Amino acid sequence: MKEILVLNGSPRVRGNTTALVEAFVRGAKEAGHRVHVCKIQEMNIHPCIGCLQGGRDPESPCVQKDGMEEIYALYRQADYIVFASPLYFWSFTAQLKMVIDRLFAVMEGPAKDGTPAYQSNLTAKKCMMIVPAEEDHDANFELINQYYDGYLARMGWEDAGRLLVGGLMQVDDIAKKPNILMRAHDLGKSID
Ligand SMILES: Cc1cc2nc3c(=O)[nH]c(=O)nc-3n(C[C@H](O)[C@H](O)[C@H](O)COP(=O)(O)O)c2cc1C
Repeated sequence: MKEILVLNGSPRVRGNTTALVEAFVRGAKEAGHRVHVCKIQEMNIHPCIGCLQGGRDPESPCVQKDGMEEIYALYRQADYIVFASPLYFWSFTAQLKMVIDRLFAVMEGPAKDGTPAYQSNLTAKKCMMIVPAEEDHDANFELINQYYDGYLARMGWEDAGRLLVGGLMQVDDIAKKPNILMRAHDLGKSID
């Protein structure tokens, strides 16, 4: 049984991203895993203020005390992190990027055995990415793929699968695409 943390960065909490996440969660639960979904839009979370004062308390590493407390606890125990976001200007939404930035506080913890602090406080994670978008061609996803691959490489994390889907614009477009929802379900179920 794996612990899976889904970070849903869509501002439309009943939109395409959420429908894909729900299908993913069904699949992951069928495979016997525990899944926690954080709808960032509905949480009280503020952007990083760049103070570089975090990391003193591993349980609550950031100086800002807000909805991230819940995410830090889930992040610590997660085997998998799923980055779910609509494509906004070929990238993640500001909501999801805000959480990624706030996870910096975890890396600020004390250095171990002469290893730089940023590296010694990173734990192995597997990651997935779920991204709906309007435009339906490979070039539309070039930048997000580049960012995701670079981010994971630098964090020492492993990609475990991604679902990048064009042709979705209106809030309920996904309802017309049961095959795509099945792919999201199967991505969740693929976790062993
Ligand atoms: C501010 C904004 C920026 C967007 N940028 C892109 C983009 O760069 N490429 C694209 O194909 N779709 C873009 N879209 C369309 C969304 O990715 C698409 O509507 C997606 O299905 C929304 O997911 P949601 O229903 O979870 O909100 C953008 C939409 C908005 C509102």
